[in-house]
Amino acid sequence: MCNDGMSSMEPKGEILHTSLAGESIEEQEVRLAWFRDAKFGMFIHWGPASLLGVELSWDRSAPKPFDITGAKDRGEDPEYDSQFKQFNPVKFDASQWVEIAKDAGMKYLVIVTKHHDGFSNFHTKYSDYNIANTPFKRDIVKELADACHSAGMKFGVYYSQRDWYHPAYLIGDNNEYREFMKNQIRELLTNYGKVDIIWFDSYGTRDLNDCKVHDELWKPQELLEMMHELQPGIIVNNRLAILASYNHPDNIGLWCDYDTPEEKIGNYQYGRAWESCMTLVGGQWSYKPGGKMYTREECIRMLVNTVTGDGNLLLNIGPMPTGEIEGRQIDRLKEIGEWLKIYGESIYCTRGGPFVNGDWGRSTRRGNTVYIHAMNRNGDSLTLPKTSVRIGSAELLAGGKVEVIESNDEIQLMMPRKHQQEIDTVIKCAVLGGADLLSVRPPAGSD
Ligand code: GLC
Repeated sequence: MCNDGMSSMEPKGEILHTSLAGESIEEQEVRLAWFRDAKFGMFIHWGPASLLGVELSWDRSAPKPFDITGAKDRGEDPEYDSQFKQFNPVKFDASQWVEIAKDAGMKYLVIVTKHHDGFSNFHTKYSDYNIANTPFKRDIVKELADACHSAGMKFGVYYSQRDWYHPAYLIGDNNEYREFMKNQIRELLTNYGKVDIIWFDSYGTRDLNDCKVHDELWKPQELLEMMHELQPGIIVNNRLAILASYNHPDNIGLWCDYDTPEEKIGNYQYGRAWESCMTLVGGQWSYKPGGKMYTREECIRMLVNTVTGDGNLLLNIGPMPTGEIEGRQIDRLKEIGEWLKIYGESIYCTRGGPFVNGDWGRSTRRGNTVYIHAMNRNGDSLTLPKTSVRIGSAELLAGGKVEVIESNDEIQLMMPRKHQQEIDTVIKCAVLGGADLLSVRPPAGSD
């Protein structure tokens, strides 16, 4: 598994943070509002490596400069590096991909524009190793951006600062590589219309422990200023300057907008946005023929566990080298979409809580409504954890009455077993007294 320490970036309870220079936390929340409401997005890892069915970048057998192998020199993998000469995904249809995401109930899409292997999926002036020089020639990023824009889907670009192909990567003062990267980012944020998210991915590990050196090598503040100038309102994940974030926990928001636990669902975290990224197939980001795919139940649980923890889910698919998305992946995504058609009101535009997550279940809230997600069937009644929230009436979201019994500070919801759902029984509760639910905060770090 490609573990470079990112997966330990797990949300942990409430975090105090400052925001972009000149921006208050409240202003940051306004900028992030659509993202908070969207909850569910599609991650796409794709490139010539899909021809080999191997993991993007990580299965390139050449040194990974300044990275976990400790190698200093760049190297080649002639087989991997020459795949682009045959990359011709003639069945790629950007609008169809966006439709698939929409049918799954996803509200945004993030596509890999350049991964650690250095190949650019877009037309760039700054490297020949790009899609224009494949038999396919078409600008994948452009076509997807256009399709997203016409379908009302928010559009995000993944960009890996780590680059095992570029000869100047992390050499000396890193000026040459940093310029290259800045130029590419400028292209991405200039030539593709509105870009809603930029999703950075790791700096490599040179000078991991020295934040000052790290800042000099990468100058993230400079980049941030350019990005906000080119795309006002853009949302930036925490991997823009992850090391600075680690070393300056008080300044975490200066560098980034949200946390990114990887291949795991974050714990409950209120007060700072987060998004878990998960691979749908085989623990591999790019196309894995025959890889084991998460079941419908696992996918729905993933989504509910994320959203009740106040986070987003970015579910990854790896398209095939033909340009198509595997039929079984499309079917799985559709199933999630079908579930969301019934239960979406308990997911979108909600915030996690106000009840502490536990074995009893989990909850989301919106306005004066609390949605209880009873994830385990447990008899005919459910006892909610103690809270100041008082519930007037309740009903099953899929239809059916629920009796509310309040005694000794305890709230019990009576719901016949036969009305309970296999994966998640969602109970819609009207809260008494016009309480402002957003002001009711569960204890930090509860799970
Ligand atoms: C990691 C991996 C990378 C993947 C990313 C997605 O950083 O190195 O392969 O694209 O996570 O979260």
